[in-house]
Amino acid sequence: MAKSKKEDKLPKIGMLYLDHVLRFFDKSNFRGWPDKIETVIYHWKNDKDRFVKEVRRKKIDILIGNIPATAYETFREIARELPNVQFIPSMDTQFSNKSKENVTRFAWKYDIPIPKTYIFYDQEKASKFIDKTEFPKIIKKSYGPSNYGGYFVHKVDSAQEAHNLLAQKKYHPAYFQDFVPMSADVRVMLIGHKPVCAFWRRPPEGEWLTNTSQGGSMDYMDVPKELLDLAVQVSKSANAEYWACDVAVGEDGKYRILECATAFAAFPYIRDWIGQYLMWKFSNGRFAKPNIPLYNWEELGKMDSSVLRTLRYITFGRYTPSYDGAYFLDKKTKETKDGELYLHELDALYPMLLTKDRTSEEWSSEKWNFQDNYGHSVRKVHTKSNPKDTYDEVGSDESEESVIEITQEHIKEVFTSVKGIGNKKVKEILNKIDDNEVIQRLEERPEEFLKDFSWFKKKMLKELDKAWQAFKNRLQ
Ligand SMILES: Nc1ncnc2c1ncn2[C@@H]1O[C@H](COP(=O)(O)OP(=O)(O)O)[C@@H](O)[C@H]1O
Ligand SMILES: [Mg+2]
Repeated sequence: MAKSKKEDKLPKIGMLYLDHVLRFFDKSNFRGWPDKIETVIYHWKNDKDRFVKEVRRKKIDILIGNIPATAYETFREIARELPNVQFIPSMDTQFSNKSKENVTRFAWKYDIPIPKTYIFYDQEKASKFIDKTEFPKIIKKSYGPSNYGGYFVHKVDSAQEAHNLLAQKKYHPAYFQDFVPMSADVRVMLIGHKPVCAFWRRPPEGEWLTNTSQGGSMDYMDVPKELLDLAVQVSKSANAEYWACDVAVGEDGKYRILECATAFAAFPYIRDWIGQYLMWKFSNGRFAKPNIPLYNWEELGKMDSSVLRTLRYITFGRYTPSYDGAYFLDKKTKETKDGELYLHELDALYPMLLTKDRTSEEWSSEKWNFQDNYGHSVRKVHTKSNPKDTYDEVGSDESEESVIEITQEHIKEVFTSVKGIGNKKVKEILNKIDDNEVIQRLEERPEEFLKDFSWFKKKMLKELDKAWQAFKNRLQ
């Protein structure tokens, strides 16, 4: 039977952006999509109704983008008002983006191994817990603006230290974990539940923090299959189109999830792959599923990150047994718990899968937004009040590139690190150009500063780009 025209019609895609937030995707990640891709920008502060109207007016079927933690509850409300719009990733998938508490609740539900975690909204209960528990413990800030490079993860060695810390920091909720001695952690990125990139992060000598932003090292080699299996299980539990997990490797040999989210720092070619995956998902097979062999990162990771940052649209040939052009999957083997396997055999064990389209809410705010609901007898959830003025804060939420709110302070810092640019010149830039435009230029079109400011010299461009990349790396 011939397909009706309607079935052939592609859904209308919209990119979801927020002011002051770095964009994870742009249209170039969806290269080849034949129809117009719309853009909708959320401007914070009472912008909900206007935003909803704009999405309706543009007749968007699918809205793609990461929601920063501080807008998460608002977007759960927005999603309810737009029942016919599919959010990608869904608000349920993005539940873990909001806070460490949410990551924990997600892990508890799906039996995902994490360090033993204790969450208290009641100060007295937290206090009692401190007096009876054992140390060392880790105390973390669960949610909210935080300084990049600042530490919001603390190791406390005694009850006294814990009391002091919470008295000083006033973290709400009080979020504790058992301290797990670990040798390293691994960041795994997945698309359609298939690992597409993974790397080790090791702490500097004698330190316990494995965050690379604190000076540790990273490498791409020999991530165990069993660790990837855990990341796949987590991605499936989240029903995530794309996903990143930080898996801690304990000195006891066990794997535990430290963080997981749809918002993470990723090279442009990885964002292209996500775009290709999504185009495949939305087009009913009209676009091909991208072929991304397992352990490709061991090969790509040999290149300098300055090169990886510029690579786009990477494709791989398919494995063909008879072809002796010697494709790397044909040659290499990996030791696994189930014996030695060729890479192409391993690759076949990790298919790229479609996510499930769901209409019901798994993590409704009425039930799961403890942060706002706690202590209120009425179970109605307010729109989480958005930060009053994102300009004032030196900070950002969480530590993931794409959900970092870039402030004017950040912009100043980047510009003034360039020789020949001081506070006065930065002011001139910010007076003339809206900060969102400044951010987009830093990302994509820095040469445009040349034409707008006579004092802007060509040689400043290189330094500016370096400063911008270094700044973004610190956000990781
Ligand atoms: N329970 C824990 N035991 C030991 N080390 C931990 C624990 N939780 C976190 N860490 C260390 O602290 C780092 C930062 O913690 P994480 O939860 O990833 O917060 P963030 O990256 O948002 O600061 C981790 O990469 C890890 O090295
Ligand atoms: Mg982390």
